[in-house]
Amino acid sequence: MNMRSDSLIHTESGAQEAKLLNSFFVLYKNARIYESSNPVFKRQCSQVLELLHQLSSGSDNIAIKAVDGHFFVNATFVRFDASEQSGADDIVQEWEDKGIGGVEFPADITFEELEYFFTYKATTKLCIGDFDTSELVSEEPSKTNRIRWLTIPESRESIPDTAEEMRRQFRAAARKTFKRALTIVQEVIVQAESGEQLNISKTKRVVHSLIDHIVRDESSMLELTAIKDYDVYTYAHSVNVSVYALTVGVHLGLDRPRLSQLGYAAIFHDIGKIQLPHDLIHKPDAFDEDDWRQMQLHPLLGAKTILRNMKLDIHTARAARGAFEHHINADFTGYPKLHYKKRTPNLFSKIISIVDSFDALVSGRVYMKKMNTPEIVITKMRNHMAVKFDPFLLDIFHRIIGVYPAGSLVLLSTDELALVLTNNDEHRDRPYVKIVGNRHGLLDETIWVDLASPEHAHRTIIRPVNPQRYGLNVRDFILDD
Ligand SMILES: [Fe+2]
Ligand SMILES: [Fe+2]
Repeated sequence: MNMRSDSLIHTESGAQEAKLLNSFFVLYKNARIYESSNPVFKRQCSQVLELLHQLSSGSDNIAIKAVDGHFFVNATFVRFDASEQSGADDIVQEWEDKGIGGVEFPADITFEELEYFFTYKATTKLCIGDFDTSELVSEEPSKTNRIRWLTIPESRESIPDTAEEMRRQFRAAARKTFKRALTIVQEVIVQAESGEQLNISKTKRVVHSLIDHIVRDESSMLELTAIKDYDVYTYAHSVNVSVYALTVGVHLGLDRPRLSQLGYAAIFHDIGKIQLPHDLIHKPDAFDEDDWRQMQLHPLLGAKTILRNMKLDIHTARAARGAFEHHINADFTGYPKLHYKKRTPNLFSKIISIVDSFDALVSGRVYMKKMNTPEIVITKMRNHMAVKFDPFLLDIFHRIIGVYPAGSLVLLSTDELALVLTNNDEHRDRPYVKIVGNRHGLLDETIWVDLASPEHAHRTIIRPVNPQRYGLNVRDFILDD
């Protein structure tokens, strides 16, 4: 009685599936309270039945699964917080204790079968201490034989499709949110350029979506920040800085309101640049003295733009401060130069300062005007530029982006070229990579490899390599699936 290895399904919303999970667990819990003749019980049973039929489309069995705290309806990962759905986490815990990983219903399940399941199987059998899954094959075949309990897979290796599918779905959802953030930032910047009062509620909402993704799976978001060559870099830079800042904030344990303010402030840190000449912002060559003089006005212009064009609240107040302070530097060597008693930049400004420098240096938009590999930049920031940054926060950021930050191209001991996508928390030097080439050239189909898994122990990272040297563009590899 093993969990099925379903073919991979990609869903964007999973709204119906989430509804099914909610109704299922509510009824599961209520079945222990109500008699089967109770009208509430009957109504909820009908609801679950209807959702099962809708999702099965009359042909596919429907399996509800709980895997490592994540929920699936068949192979679709469903955003479902068991701790918030009263009783769901207790039920899943009870399942786990008994070796149950889920339950599968036939496509054409009837009301009677479902009613019988909830009345007798969802309650009595699971309450006995001496549990034997073989017992779950009903003594009343006509009624419950077609409903199957699913066992918990013995090890993660036995559910590669599920783990892989989760990863893919996280990445797909992260991309969607990242793209939406880009669109909203673009809208707001265009609005700001025309001097309009800014409607910033959309920005606040998208920051909340970014937080949701980062809390759940920061790697999928960090991976997208590795694309530095967007046509309009300013928008991508704003989103990147927000994603990095939020990730640092999450690691610091900031609460939700502060994370929201931090992400928001990060998005608007460079808003002052809209007041500067377009040619200056997009100048391909190194800046001369006059260019720098103008560029150094953007923090003050940013604070003014925010205070003038946005309704004043805690978000805009923090954003104004972030914009004003993000180039001051911890040792006050930056700009603007303060003539009053020097006050240490606040926490948000210090975080934004670090992640802003990292993103700008990797993309080659400042100073050297050429792209740099992430690991060269972080090393430089830690050594030559360390006095500019808060050492504790820089250390946290370095740990987040890892030994080989997402977007690094690395040479493996097998003479293969691989792109680092996500870090493995427990094995920072053995990230999740995509092999893009070998000694014969680029591969037609890239290969995903978790370097931390024992089967890839023979693959070790030798050193990072510069993608430009190979004429490669990391964006192509990140977005090619
Ligand atoms: Fe800036
Ligand atoms: Fe910036």
